[in-house]
Amino acid sequence: MNMYLNFEKIPNQYKIKKEIIQNQFLINGKLVNWKGDLSPVYSTISSNKKYNPTKLGEIPNLGKKEAILALDSACDAFDKGKGIWPTMKVLDRIKAMENFVADMKTKRDVIVKLLMWEIGKNLNDSKKEFDRTVDYIYDTIEAYKQIDRDSAKFQKNSGINAHIRRGPLGIVLCLGPYNYPLNETFCLLIPALIMGNTVIFKPAKHGVLLITPLLQAFKKHFPPGVVNILFGRGRVLATPIMETGKVNVLALIGHSSSANALQESHPKKNRLRLVLGLEAKNPAIVLPDADLDLAIKECINGSLSYNGQRCTALKIIYVHEKIKDNFIKKFSKEVDNLNYGNPWDSNVMLTPLPEPNKPKYINSLVQDALKKGAKVMNKKGGEMCENYIYPSVLYPVTKDMQVYKDEQFGPVIPIISFKDINEPLNDMAESNYGQQVSLFGKDTKTLGPLIDTLVNLVCRVNINSSCQRGPDIYPFTGRKDSAFSTLSVRDALRSFSIRTFVASKDNDDNNKIIKDLLGSKKSNFVSTDYIL
Ligand code: G3H
Repeated sequence: MNMYLNFEKIPNQYKIKKEIIQNQFLINGKLVNWKGDLSPVYSTISSNKKYNPTKLGEIPNLGKKEAILALDSACDAFDKGKGIWPTMKVLDRIKAMENFVADMKTKRDVIVKLLMWEIGKNLNDSKKEFDRTVDYIYDTIEAYKQIDRDSAKFQKNSGINAHIRRGPLGIVLCLGPYNYPLNETFCLLIPALIMGNTVIFKPAKHGVLLITPLLQAFKKHFPPGVVNILFGRGRVLATPIMETGKVNVLALIGHSSSANALQESHPKKNRLRLVLGLEAKNPAIVLPDADLDLAIKECINGSLSYNGQRCTALKIIYVHEKIKDNFIKKFSKEVDNLNYGNPWDSNVMLTPLPEPNKPKYINSLVQDALKKGAKVMNKKGGEMCENYIYPSVLYPVTKDMQVYKDEQFGPVIPIISFKDINEPLNDMAESNYGQQVSLFGKDTKTLGPLIDTLVNLVCRVNINSSCQRGPDIYPFTGRKDSAFSTLSVRDALRSFSIRTFVASKDNDDNNKIIKDLLGSKKSNFVSTDYIL
């Protein structure tokens, strides 16, 4: 199978004409020149006839010293609560964010191009990732305005006046994933910043160069030290930062093993708030009366959009015995009809995998399943080249297979058939994960009680559709090893802040002080100004 394209076939605007040599990092409002080692950044997409990864550029390979400098810079900017940013008027923080996003929008083309090269996301989805992130920032601004409006008042209870708002938590360490290196990272970074926290941010391993066009905008629109951006290895940089005990929030989208290790290295765990989006193994359950064409379409999308490299991807499909033959036959045919190509090619769903070892790993899952009694049900399943492995539809999958246990995060679809609905329900209850489920069927007598159980096993039950995070206004979370804290536009603002308030006994002297504070506008916190 020819799974890479020639340089000549790459449209001119998407060709890599010049490597990006990123030799700066952002600390204390300065783009510091790095004189040490640089690490190469490669794309698994080939620019030549003979397969060869394409070098896209270089990034600093920073060490512990720079990590601690970034932490100190974030601590100085927070300045024990006295910093410009945490004490600033809400409206002024919002203005800074609006200016940032205005600059960010001018970088759309270069970031979309880098999304395609660095992580192999197709053109449409890369554009969607950028636009969705910009929308998220505007929605966050609106949600914060509403939170601020709701708190532009005093309450009185038991003779005590109270002015209650949400305040920042302090220092946030922010680590994002490779599959949504812009969107998911910014879904942490933006609410953390706007609530008045100061941040140390390390981009994901893949999808790192695409952050570099934004460094100037971060430097320009936020006070020094509010955003610090490091490049290098997560373990080398994040561990010493956590060991100081100065981090107040660990915001991480990635694997629970990294989250646990980092949490462990914090000496005062009770002080550490966690905002985590972790792994999942979302199942589809296809009931005997399901609309088969619809279920197949949704399961294809759910399991294979961005090659299954989404935490919300369908990673296991349970099909009722009565319809399994028909389902598997049609599903396998549809999988074989999917196009593989480079991200900018038209109508491609399947694109190069950004992790060089991924095809080999997915193949090991397939081989293990074959050894233990499964079959590859589609003709193209398992065909490999240097940067891809064609999706395999595996059936019958059993619990001893690695593909049943692992979050595969790639193009392989395990299918299990069931007679009794308790079989998938028990598996879900035993599973380490609890993010979402897709339920396909029509009969409300069956669906009703099933929904009542499923909502207690996961955090979103999708009726006759694949799992997904959006719309971002809805809560995104999970049980067990799948998440900690809830993210949505509004919930994220809550996750990165704490309720804090000013209380005063209701007497003439105190009331005069409060009135004077409100009239003189000497405090940014004690304010009933209404943001329109
Ligand atoms: O990787 C997990 C993402 O949050 C999934 O988001 O459902 O919009 O692809 P999505």
